[in-house]
Amino acid sequence: MQRVESEIARVIKEINYDEVSRLFGTLSGGKRLRAKLILKIAPANENAPMLAAIVELIHAASLLHDDVIDEATLRRGVASVNATDGSKTAVMLGDILYSKAFTELVAFEKDVAKIVASSVTALSKGEMMDVKMAGEFNTDEEKYLDMLYLKTATLIEAAAEASAILAGKDAPSHALYGRNLGLSFQIIDDILDITSNAATLGKPAMNDFVEGKCTLPYIYLYRALDDSDKQRLLLLHAKVLSEEESFWIREKMKEHKTIEKSFELASRLSNEAMSAVREDTELVGILQTMIKRSY
Ligand code: FPP
Ligand code: MG
Repeated sequence: MQRVESEIARVIKEINYDEVSRLFGTLSGGKRLRAKLILKIAPANENAPMLAAIVELIHAASLLHDDVIDEATLRRGVASVNATDGSKTAVMLGDILYSKAFTELVAFEKDVAKIVASSVTALSKGEMMDVKMAGEFNTDEEKYLDMLYLKTATLIEAAAEASAILAGKDAPSHALYGRNLGLSFQIIDDILDITSNAATLGKPAMNDFVEGKCTLPYIYLYRALDDSDKQRLLLLHAKVLSEEESFWIREKMKEHKTIEKSFELASRLSNEAMSAVREDTELVGILQTMIKRSY
């Protein structure tokens, strides 16, 4: 991972603008899941650290824009750039990181560049769907999963597929692994938004629903409730929740086991991902660690 961090540092330095270096320095790197995946899939390829750096820069750019769109003041436990330096700066910093990543990407073979580049169109589409869907109480599970795939899984899928190509490994099975890892990861994230507290999350708990996002535990809950409780849940959608209201939602979720049901889907997807790369114990290990972070 040290090589990935040095590639990121080199690329940021090349932008040659102190303000960008300063702002980039305020960002928390996060788990670097995508980079780790690329290094695990293509450990011997000399260009893998650069590909990992590119994917992490794209991811960082997308989060900068996402925080503007979501009007989020916290990211990974630290104040977001839009909160400290304003939305205009956050958008421009995102643009710089994103375009610089693409400048580096064009040096890669065409297949690899195309996979990563087109995943960014997909994730941008996913973000747009997410925002549109948050305007109403969505109860359609399939629509939700389609959006989740685009918004979160496509970049992980692209990272896995592109690094498999670099390593001369089977691309489709690695793409499937990345896709299901991404979906499973996001479903667990959605669960943690409900089951964890603000200190652990680095952002307010139950924030998804406040932002209007009806994640799987809410979709399953809506389906299970009787008519009057359905109405109560609809009234709480996209509002700041009181202690009593969030308690009510959590209790109803317990009663109808909607967290467990969501977790079952995450496990199923995760098992499918494991079957795709069965012989690779390291890739299987990444999935096992991820599944364990829930609850
Ligand atoms: C986080 O979702 C958002 C994403 C993973 C993708 C955001 C994508 C864009 C803004 C498209 C633009 C892309 C580029 C490269 C400029 P979330 O809000 O559900 O998660 P959170 O709780 O981490 O904010
Ligand atoms: Mg967000």
